[in-house]
Amino acid sequence: MMTATVEIPSYVRSERLKTWVNEMVALCKPARVHWCDGSQEEYDDLCDLLVANGTFTRLNPEKRPNSFLARSHPSDVARVEDRTYICSLNQDDAGPTNNWMNPVKMHGILDGLFDGSMSGRTMYVIPFSMGPIGSPISYIGYEITDSAYVAVNMRIMARMGRRVDEALGESDVFIPCAHTVGQPLEFGQKDIAWPCNPDVKYIVHFPEERSIWSYGSGYGGNALLGKKCLALRIASVLGRDEGWMAEHMLILGVEDPNGEKTYVAGAFPSACGKTNFAMLIPPQGLDGWKVTTIGDDIAWLKPGEDGRLYAINPEAGYFGVAPGTNYKTNPNAMKSIESNTIFTNVALTDDGDVWWEGMDGAAPAHAIDWQGDDWSPDSGRKAAHPNSRFTAPAGQNPAIDPEWENPAGVPISAIVFGGRRSTVVPLVYQPINWAFGVYAGATMGSEMTAAAFGKLGEVRRDPMAMLPFIGYHMASYFNHWLNMGRRVSQPPRIFNVNWFRRDSDGKFLWPGFGDNMRVLKWIVQRVNGHARAVESPLGYVPTYDDIDWTGLDFSREEFHALMAVERADWEREILQHEELFIKLYDRLPKEFLAIRELLLSGLWRSPQHWELPDYAENH
Ligand code: GTP
Ligand code: SPV
Ligand code: MN
Repeated sequence: MMTATVEIPSYVRSERLKTWVNEMVALCKPARVHWCDGSQEEYDDLCDLLVANGTFTRLNPEKRPNSFLARSHPSDVARVEDRTYICSLNQDDAGPTNNWMNPVKMHGILDGLFDGSMSGRTMYVIPFSMGPIGSPISYIGYEITDSAYVAVNMRIMARMGRRVDEALGESDVFIPCAHTVGQPLEFGQKDIAWPCNPDVKYIVHFPEERSIWSYGSGYGGNALLGKKCLALRIASVLGRDEGWMAEHMLILGVEDPNGEKTYVAGAFPSACGKTNFAMLIPPQGLDGWKVTTIGDDIAWLKPGEDGRLYAINPEAGYFGVAPGTNYKTNPNAMKSIESNTIFTNVALTDDGDVWWEGMDGAAPAHAIDWQGDDWSPDSGRKAAHPNSRFTAPAGQNPAIDPEWENPAGVPISAIVFGGRRSTVVPLVYQPINWAFGVYAGATMGSEMTAAAFGKLGEVRRDPMAMLPFIGYHMASYFNHWLNMGRRVSQPPRIFNVNWFRRDSDGKFLWPGFGDNMRVLKWIVQRVNGHARAVESPLGYVPTYDDIDWTGLDFSREEFHALMAVERADWEREILQHEELFIKLYDRLPKEFLAIRELLLSGLWRSPQHWELPDYAENH
């Protein structure tokens, strides 16, 4: 079989890069090599090619201009945490929450799998920058891949193309990212719409080498290697070594009626509401308040000279959960995806548009479901996969913050942790200081969603929403958080929220979405010194009268149910913290044991059933 010779563009000058690409071509043996320049013309050509190959369906240009639908293989629909590895030299450095293999052994396996893996296919070389091009805080990566789907998605999700080659210049500082779908084409064999390897997948990180290898999947975070692999797993290691933080966080700006701007970051686990919160539109009655988006999934936080933490969004697009998104729950997301968008695993309507469960209006009488089969509302199946997603340029969000590409970042005043909990955890509380806040984030539990393979609904500990994304020992990461609080003189205030508490009939107690502004308003006023609070066993909380209820009929009793703290529930909760601590025993911060004791002591000072007081009673 013919292997390509590599034509490297004349503007590519990094010797390390040229050597690496030549080595990867020799190993993967593609039929052709295409060095991406990132132009619109190239994007359009690749989309046409994906249509011709059957990977893409072009959507009706009158309804969804320049937009496409892809259907993945049914085995390739989400991240694969059990196939994700952190291959540090020392197993202890990966820690007990990560899969590990000796890096030499892993390289042996990957060399075998990648050998000839691209035969019959085109290798795309994708230059990309996480963060604004040329900014001192950005990181450049190069992804080689045999998936044109990955190339077009990467152009939306990251700054991509010739500008990045030029920014790299002669430097050898870049993160090599090797990706193959793991399905070589034998001579003359016809391709399928979604090539992948249904049996063998490896998502591998070498933190000391700072390199990434991904085999067998074409989906999302498994394949778009700038996102979870570089901007979280590798970047978390860089942040530990260099004194900054790479976090699974949204970043938003809040403008109050006086025009004062406050920036807030939020760590919620996968499919737990980051995109919705980042694009929030305040409800009627809170009209003077405005929310703008910096990012919806990843934040890099660095200490500024003024002692505050500054955040940038390293991404350039949204890879957002489709189901549940509509003009009521998230109008800004709906507007962001009106054109120039790639949809994956949603349903196709008869008029060539997309549909998913929870979209506005009635379900269509007929559609083609995410697996390509006829679907109707009575067919008893979901039309869109629960983890179906859209890929859209961030600049299309009407609420994009004017500072979103500022390489200096925005100063963060509050960090909000938020898991998905049907019970136990109240709507909002503010731990009393940085260390208690770090403890709250570290012990966050959340019910499993479709964003990862696992038992739906089961509560698992997902520290800082980083369980699947930390590139080193989880307890060292906790220590890094505590260290950062000592390094910056004005660390953000930390809060914990839970939009998902339910009553005994299983109904959500809190309306959520735009109404989350009521909680956000209290948080913002709190960090600016304008909001009252009372003490609860968990930290500071607002009373009923401290929340702006304009335009919402929500009773004092309902709010008290949302805010109640049951000692028995929290004793069980703390036992689960203990399970996590035992797992992380060798590197656990000493502070955590003291805080656990103080938390218990606070619960024991309070009644079995702690109910929010009315403010007057407290004075
Ligand atoms: P990743 O992209 O996977 O990291 O997740 P994300 O945190 O950005 O998830 P996203 O915002 O797309 O969350 C989607 C899910 O959260 C959908 O099931 C929504 O219906 C649900 N959701 C978001 N906000 C709220 C809320 O305020 N209340 C309730 N009840 N559900 C919400
Ligand atoms: C997540 O699962 O947290 C995501 C989607 O943001 S993916 O990029 O596929 O990991
Ligand atoms: Mn995410």
